[in-house]
Amino acid sequence: MTPFKSVTAFAPATVANVSCGFDIMGFAIKGPGDKVALSLQSDNADSPVTLSGPYGHLIPSERLKNTAGVAVNAFLKATGNVQLHPGIALEKNLPLGSGMGSSAASSAAAVFALNHLLGSPLSTRELIPFAMEGERIACGSAHADNVAPALLGGFVLIRSYSPLDIISITCPDELFCAVVHPHIELQTTDARRILKNDISMADVIKQSANAASFMVALSQKDYDLLGRSMHDLLAEPRRTQLIPGFDSAKQNALNAGAIGCGISGSGPSVFALCRSESTANIVAKGIQQGFLEAELASDTFVSPLNAPGTCIIKTN
Ligand code: HSE
Repeated sequence: MTPFKSVTAFAPATVANVSCGFDIMGFAIKGPGDKVALSLQSDNADSPVTLSGPYGHLIPSERLKNTAGVAVNAFLKATGNVQLHPGIALEKNLPLGSGMGSSAASSAAAVFALNHLLGSPLSTRELIPFAMEGERIACGSAHADNVAPALLGGFVLIRSYSPLDIISITCPDELFCAVVHPHIELQTTDARRILKNDISMADVIKQSANAASFMVALSQKDYDLLGRSMHDLLAEPRRTQLIPGFDSAKQNALNAGAIGCGISGSGPSVFALCRSESTANIVAKGIQQGFLEAELASDTFVSPLNAPGTCIIKTN
């Protein structure tokens, strides 16, 4: 136990899939994120999650329906702390159904704050399965490609889900991403439902080859190879129909000098990898213009790929 009555953590937004790594690749974005304050003052197992922030009114406050509440419960159960009923206050800053890892940021901040409050009995890596339970309640699938980078920061590769085997990849410092969030909501559950269940052997071979060459390209700073590797045969062909303006947005990104461009997570946000911050700024404007042609307003974010993960921002 720590002497603190309350601990607040911040967890960043994330980009999952990264085109050629459906469910197995993701990276953190510097800037946008959710905040969760955990306190040991509550003694009521059913006390609701206190919600604030621009999107707080859009999510359930019941603990068993709230991603932060579910992740906290999973942590307490696994560590034999079921007698504790911490108070949870979530400042929901990330838009829902955005493809920017909104639910993951809430779960990640919650388990990170709780671990700190309890005197850090677990490593950050050991928190990932609990945050994944938050994803399960939010979108019906306990994928780790948002929660792992949200917690660890930087770029992660999930080699295996069972057992969980997560590898942190250091990216070249000059690599930046542009992320553009058009103002429509797309639920991950819906974006997963439209995926094909049967993938041809030819597509499996192409996707695996691209994922492997993407990793080689990162380690060798070979940006032509990185761009050639950024193709998604699993999700993008199905999901673009859900994202008005996607084709123009992607073409504009490539015309403006992006290395590659694709759907961020399950969309509707679009991301592009770029060789510098200044290129990423120009690319973000190009993507935004593509969405404008579809009469969609959007927000833009630019971040280095080696962005920090979840951190403690306040203790009382
Ligand atoms: N890999 C997940 C998906 C990420 O694409 O469904 C969701 O943010």
